Amino acid sequence: MGVHGKVSDVDDLLGGDGSLGNAIGIIVGETSVLDFRFLIGDETGRGAYVKVRDVSGGWILAHVEDVTRSNAAYNLNQVDKKKTEAKERMVGTARVIGLAANGKLQIPTTPPHPGDHVLMADDTLIKRALGLSRGNLYIGLLDGRNLKVKLDANTFVQKHCSILAKTGSGKSYTAAVVLEELLEKNVALLIIDPHGEYVSMKDKNNEGDFARYGIQPRGYDVTVYSPAYQGVNPNADKAFRFDGKNLTAREITGLFPDDVTDSQMGVLYEAIKALAVEKENYYLEDIISQAEKDTSKAKWGLIRRMEALVDLGIFSGRPTKSKDLLRRGKASVVDMTGVPPDLQGMIVAKLLTDLFDARKRGKVSPGMVVIEEAHNYIPERGSGKAASTGIIRTIAAEGRKFGLGLLVISQRPARVDKNVISQCNTQIILRVTNPNDLRALSKGIEGMSADLEDDIMRLPPGTAMLVSNEIERPVTVNIRPRKSKHGGISPLIVAGEKKDDKGKKPTRSEKKKGGGLLRKILGK
Ligand SMILES: Nc1ncnc2c1ncn2[C@@H]1O[C@H](COP(=O)(O)OP(=O)(O)OP(=O)(O)O)[C@@H](O)[C@H]1O
Ligand SMILES: [Mg+2]
Repeated sequence: MGVHGKVSDVDDLLGGDGSLGNAIGIIVGETSVLDFRFLIGDETGRGAYVKVRDVSGGWILAHVEDVTRSNAAYNLNQVDKKKTEAKERMVGTARVIGLAANGKLQIPTTPPHPGDHVLMADDTLIKRALGLSRGNLYIGLLDGRNLKVKLDANTFVQKHCSILAKTGSGKSYTAAVVLEELLEKNVALLIIDPHGEYVSMKDKNNEGDFARYGIQPRGYDVTVYSPAYQGVNPNADKAFRFDGKNLTAREITGLFPDDVTDSQMGVLYEAIKALAVEKENYYLEDIISQAEKDTSKAKWGLIRRMEALVDLGIFSGRPTKSKDLLRRGKASVVDMTGVPPDLQGMIVAKLLTDLFDARKRGKVSPGMVVIEEAHNYIPERGSGKAASTGIIRTIAAEGRKFGLGLLVISQRPARVDKNVISQCNTQIILRVTNPNDLRALSKGIEGMSADLEDDIMRLPPGTAMLVSNEIERPVTVNIRPRKSKHGGISPLIVAGEKKDDKGKKPTRSEKKKGGGLLRKILGK
């Protein structure tokens, strides 16, 4: 029986007594190897995974993309309430994922038969067909099922990942879930953290449905480094400093947000050349004093930029060693709190250049570099400039050869360097609504298509679309709760704010007043 007391067609067709056996529906109309439609009971909805028999005897796995409901008594052109015998009809449209045969997924060669039963797909078939559990990084459950979605740690790190979604949709939360899994697999992590959100990975989470997802809350080994002046960042465990001794012209200009002119480069070379003759060790302050002696006007722009670096204090004190930043099973967080935005790009540029160099020479362990708010560090051409673009592109292109992976996170997919995004083998996409960003996703990512845009716009919080070369087709995943505490909570701006009328649910009497529209139209 349908919910509204009407016998649906499918009940009738499958025995009339409401017992469908194992079947949930029956194929109707024309079928093809790519899709079919079926009469369906009230129990099955959009997003369900179903199976039908192939002529070969194997199972064809399909995904319900749409469901429609109609009733002859309530025809659009003529409403006839006297047709009490009329039955409600629900029709599902299923897209074929493939035929699971010999451990491989193939598109069937012949379409399924009209009249055949449609069954709910079992977990084993889904797992096997989609390749969901080949890996060891547990990120959540397949939407609507109790089936764990796992990615392979090696592929994930070596072939890079991006997490893209609008602001507040759970990017940092999801990133932390993946990072927890990586730490448990003994992977080394370096996190570029503009807002100081990742320090909370040290602590245990105390809210979440841990039982449903089968996990235990816990904290992790995290060291927070601060490039700002000592004392600016209360969460810092250590200061982050560069070695300011005997810097080369290239090292210095690499820290600038924009290009230097030939004449500025000339001033810098001259200054360093003179110092190198004079002193065994020279520092940035010495280079500035030396450049001040130059007679050209070009020196001022150069000096201004070098003074900004001195002001930051990043070259004073004991330099941070690359090998301390990447340690197996541990996370190093470079917390940018208190660092001006243009200098952040410079710091990331030098830090990653040194780190990648050390990795190539085998001086640091393999690992993954996490870049939060990536649109600031690798802006797409036309949306800004950052000193860090070059090295991040290099790591995206060559990192896999040397065991250095990238995880880039951004709320503006359209504003992140496409070269880097296209190098990412795994994409975790949460809710996106901006049309430019949607287009950037559907055009710029392999395995994505425009028909997924609708789904991405409607993703509920904590639900992600996973696109990966390891998985046969994009799947929707309910991200598991974090084991460690989440740090990205926005403070309430107005305490105790009351919901306005728009946000309020209608009361029963309000509903009544608004309802009965049909009764009014029919005059009954
Ligand atoms: N899978 C999830 N389970 C439970 N809560 C979640 C989940 N994902 C996100 N949240 C909640 O949603 C809120 C926003 O998440 P998060 O801080 O990760 O968003 P964001 O996309 O990184 O935002 P921003 O653009 O501001 O950085 C968090 O406070 C978190 O509690
Ligand atoms: Mg965030």
